[in-house]
Amino acid sequence: MATVTIQKVTKAFGDNVVLREFDAVFGEGEFITLLGPSGCGKTTMLRMIAGFERPTEGEIYFDDMLVSGGRTFVPPEKRGVGMVFQSYAVWPHMDVFENVAYPLTIRHTPKSEIKARVEKVLAIVHLSRYAERLPSQLSGGQQQRVALARALVAEPKLLLLDEPLSNLDAKLRESMRFEIKEIQQKLGINVVYVTHDQTEAMAMSDRIFLINRGVVQQCGTPEEIYNTPANQFVADFLGKVDFFKGEARDGEVVIPALGGQSIPYAGAQRGKVDAAIRPENFYFTADGPLHGTLERQYYLGDVDDCRVRIGESLVRVITNGFAFRTLKTGAAVTLGVRDMMVFPDDGLLEQMLEIST
Ligand SMILES: Nc1ncnc2c1ncn2[C@@H]1O[C@H](COP(=O)(O)OP(=O)(O)OP(=O)(O)O)[C@@H](O)[C@H]1O
Ligand SMILES: [Mg+2]
Repeated sequence: MATVTIQKVTKAFGDNVVLREFDAVFGEGEFITLLGPSGCGKTTMLRMIAGFERPTEGEIYFDDMLVSGGRTFVPPEKRGVGMVFQSYAVWPHMDVFENVAYPLTIRHTPKSEIKARVEKVLAIVHLSRYAERLPSQLSGGQQQRVALARALVAEPKLLLLDEPLSNLDAKLRESMRFEIKEIQQKLGINVVYVTHDQTEAMAMSDRIFLINRGVVQQCGTPEEIYNTPANQFVADFLGKVDFFKGEARDGEVVIPALGGQSIPYAGAQRGKVDAAIRPENFYFTADGPLHGTLERQYYLGDVDDCRVRIGESLVRVITNGFAFRTLKTGAAVTLGVRDMMVFPDDGLLEQMLEIST
């Protein structure tokens, strides 16, 4: 399979619509991540691609072949897809080799071929030395890799991974990220990866589909999503951001909550806006548009994490501005703004705040 095409897929459970007109084409060898808060519909989308759920409306194609849609429904075992579920069920009574060999055993693959293929995938997931162990003798991360090896051994062209690292500690999770990415590139397969962890999505993906309440908010490369978010939800979900209500005019946005001071602006929005600024996009300078008072400063080694009082707002500034480290709390400071994202004031921010409170 080279591509997966999802055409206007809607899924409802009863009258609860959990995915709405999902449109996507996943290209050959792409690492795609479905990202979004709990309950937004990620697992449901994955299960529809695998064939464990039927779309209520719309079609899914593998290359030119319709697998779901209208009266057509290709069952999961005929889709040639590998899937690793969040709860990585490995058979407790089988050793690692038998667990991984299972998909081949049930297909009556010749023994010599099974041995060769299992050894190959165990090497890929760095578990060659553990072939004869039982799952109870493995760590969580090792069991996770057994589940991954079992999905890989059938050599699927498409691998679906549902939060496969969520049960691991931070260090192991980070190293497994690279291992999965390496396997995907080595085998040249398509991966659809589900997570609600934005760092994981940023680190691994060719493209991210960010979903909220069943609707794709934006799809793009990690850079696109982070630097040019389509709306306030996207800006807020990836990275840290402060929002300010403002008034956009020619050349500036006036912000009442920053004591009525204005920030230079070259964009096209006019009138009421939501301005969004990431803490790393503020910087201390001798000559800048914002004047305030340094209220707190935390030395974090690689950066300083500061709070600056400007008007009624306490603004977060993350800087490696070493030259300003001599500043005392209470000092008058001037801030520049490297990058400001400006969205029309369409009520989305208020809607988001209502949900999160
Ligand atoms: N079989 C089902 N019957 C009824 N409702 C369901 C079913 N499966 C999922 N849902 C509902 O669909 C919505 C989306 O669920 P889904 O599991 O896809 O979310 P998710 O994005 O994977 O969330 P999480 O990050 O918590 O795993 C939820 O509101 C859930 O309650
Ligand atoms: Mg889920």
